[in-house]
Amino acid sequence: MQSDKTFATRFGVIAATVGSAVGLGNIWRFPYECGANGGSAFLLAYIGFVIVLGIPVICAEFVVGRASGTNVAGAFRKLGAGRLWQSIGVMGITASFFIMGFYSVVAGWCMDYIWQSATGFGGVASQTELHTRFDEIVASPLRPVAWTIAFLVVNFMVISRGVQKGIERISNLLMPLLFVILAVFCVNSLLMPGAAEGMAFLFKPDFSKLDGDALLSAMGQAFFSLSVGMGALITYSSYFSKKTSLVKTAGITAALDTLVAVMAAIVIFPACFSFGQEPAAGPRLVFEVLPSIFMSLPGGQIWGTMFFILLFVASLTSTISLSEVVIACMEGEWKMSRGKATLIEGGAVTVMAVLSSLSFGALSGWTIFGMNFFNLLDFLSSNILLPAGGVLISIYVGWVLDRRIVSRQLTPPGHTRSVWVAPVSFCLRFIAPPAILAIFIFGLL
Ligand code: PFF
Repeated sequence: MQSDKTFATRFGVIAATVGSAVGLGNIWRFPYECGANGGSAFLLAYIGFVIVLGIPVICAEFVVGRASGTNVAGAFRKLGAGRLWQSIGVMGITASFFIMGFYSVVAGWCMDYIWQSATGFGGVASQTELHTRFDEIVASPLRPVAWTIAFLVVNFMVISRGVQKGIERISNLLMPLLFVILAVFCVNSLLMPGAAEGMAFLFKPDFSKLDGDALLSAMGQAFFSLSVGMGALITYSSYFSKKTSLVKTAGITAALDTLVAVMAAIVIFPACFSFGQEPAAGPRLVFEVLPSIFMSLPGGQIWGTMFFILLFVASLTSTISLSEVVIACMEGEWKMSRGKATLIEGGAVTVMAVLSSLSFGALSGWTIFGMNFFNLLDFLSSNILLPAGGVLISIYVGWVLDRRIVSRQLTPPGHTRSVWVAPVSFCLRFIAPPAILAIFIFGLL
């Protein structure tokens, strides 16, 4: 019998990996970043980074995961790496906790907004009212905490069912659903009066906007969106069979992840221009600008409900991969049962998430380095842990790991050395480490 610790089908491999990559980063963060950094120029820079940095680092994580066949804490040791490289595992586990801590709060808001949209926002429609409502919701003492916990319960129920019956089954079901809902939204958006203006903003390049800040934001966004730098893809690729082509899977994941980000932008910008809204409204964009747009459309309640279901689906398949990083370590390193590991990890994440949710209300006076707890978790993971993990993983696979292992893993079975080995290795050796170090340093300035 096939072990539960591998994905059963090729479709399952793609659905789970794309499920990890596609999330709030694509639908919530990408349009806002793109809007704030000059639209089309940002998009081009983003695509460039996905190709020269993203795909090679995904390949590097896949090589480590499949060659070792184990979790992020054990993988480097199993490949004979020294302590420095083993610290990637510790950083990955820490990043998983931090990202779960703020991400599940936003996912909880999405669940709340599914309910709100379905009930027509209680008759509230103007943007000012929706602005106030968002502030009230995130600051209230119980409501966002309750939704965050509800989200975590769903997440850990799926995770507790294991790799095939939990992760793979839910990804196979939810990822196609996500594409269908997003495609419906794109068509609707392209039929709006502001479609031409929105599309020009997104696709007509204006290179004067491409300054250093925009480049750095585009690179950071590419890493977060592709789920690289913290071992989520090491963990998933330890469940790949020998027959899975790593380069092809990396390429498909990057392409579909970028497609979803572009589709989300196609949904949002024409709608913004049609309704005279600001594309650079920031993290609030999805929660206040979009509902005001939906509410003014015929059938707005249905559109709104579908949109927030889409965000919920996207975030669930991403948090599943984040939690699996830690659960696989507990099972593999500490020999815990999956049920026990799920309970312990679930409990720890819930404490982090509750504190981070309360940091918009009861704990808003509590700041560390001038940031509330939610922003601190976001800052530490995106600006420090992911880039540091990305640099270390690239150097390890590019310079330290035996060349024969890299070449064997990147070459599909039955082929002689793949043509992709040389370009991927070149990017990992000479391009990724200095480029990622640049985000790391400038991100801290
Ligand atoms: N890639 C996810 C997104 O774009 O929302 C976020 C994420 C998931 C980051 C898993 C890191 C990770 F390991």
